[in-house]
Amino acid sequence: MDSKLLPRIGVIGTGAIAEALVIGMIDHSRCSGPIRVSIRNEQRSSRLADRFENVVVDPSNQSIIDQTDIIIFAVLPDQAVALLNELTFRDDQTLINLVAGFSVSELRKIVSPLSRVHRLIPLPPVEFGLGPLPMFPPCEDLANLFSGCGKVIQVEDETDFTGFAAVSGLMATHHRLTATVTQWVASRGVNADNAAAYTSHMFHALTYLESTASGADLQRLARKCVTQGGINELALDQLEELQWFDQVVERLDTIADRLEKIVETGNP
Ligand SMILES: NC(=O)c1ccc[n+]([C@@H]2O[C@H](COP(=O)([O-])OP(=O)(O)OC[C@H]3O[C@@H](n4cnc5c(N)ncnc54)[C@H](OP(=O)(O)O)[C@@H]3O)[C@@H](O)[C@H]2O)c1
Repeated sequence: MDSKLLPRIGVIGTGAIAEALVIGMIDHSRCSGPIRVSIRNEQRSSRLADRFENVVVDPSNQSIIDQTDIIIFAVLPDQAVALLNELTFRDDQTLINLVAGFSVSELRKIVSPLSRVHRLIPLPPVEFGLGPLPMFPPCEDLANLFSGCGKVIQVEDETDFTGFAAVSGLMATHHRLTATVTQWVASRGVNADNAAAYTSHMFHALTYLESTASGADLQRLARKCVTQGGINELALDQLEELQWFDQVVERLDTIADRLEKIVETGNP
């Protein structure tokens, strides 16, 4: 493609998630247009510029905005408003907000005359082209831009983000489950790396199957694995009796309540 037709991308707030997203965009979404990243964080921005020839570090946030079409905004929530108030945007630009807790309508008021504001919530594995990428409001062009970075989920209702954010609160629990199972295998005398390889690759394969299933099929996968009197039935029935899954749902409710309060009050 003619490089003049490629969108020029800017990044304000080159932190952990922005670095992962830029890597994902270049390595997996084949983004070859220019990407201007804010100098902060200095270590991360110089690492990106050293690694990719289309990444340039810019010490001025306004200069990033002046020279780009799509701006990815990824500072911490308490830094966001003061920073945006210092900057001037154009009406032909698009802002992609990664910062939690800001609605599209709130941001539009701050960055006017820019009106094309989208919310996108990547997770760290975006670096490997993996993970969910909920986007609101839906946009085909942006979905294509990020399609290699993970599964773009076009969201029609912004309040869906609370449910997705709550689910991301289970990442540590997921790792803990894998670690606990691995430790149990290792405690039987199995080499620790082999124990980790078996457990994590089994979960990886099952998660792949889940990611190809429809919503309705996903609900049936657990019972499809069960044979009467078999080992999967033994584990699943006992965990159901212990209300293990109900406990997970209760924790999700608690997280969602907390996230809704943050949105209402602006306080964590
Ligand atoms: N981490 C995740 O998994 C994740 C996922 C989805 C969304 N998010 C959202 O993404 C945002 C960033 O999260 P993060 O984990 O990447 O945090 P982070 O690593 O602390 O990144 C924030 C970055 O903003 C930079 N910054 C601060 N003030 C700036 C300024 N005036 N101009 C330019 N850059 C400035 C910081 O630079 P210094 O280091 O120099 O202070 C830092 O590099 C958060 O709002 C979070 O809600 C995070």
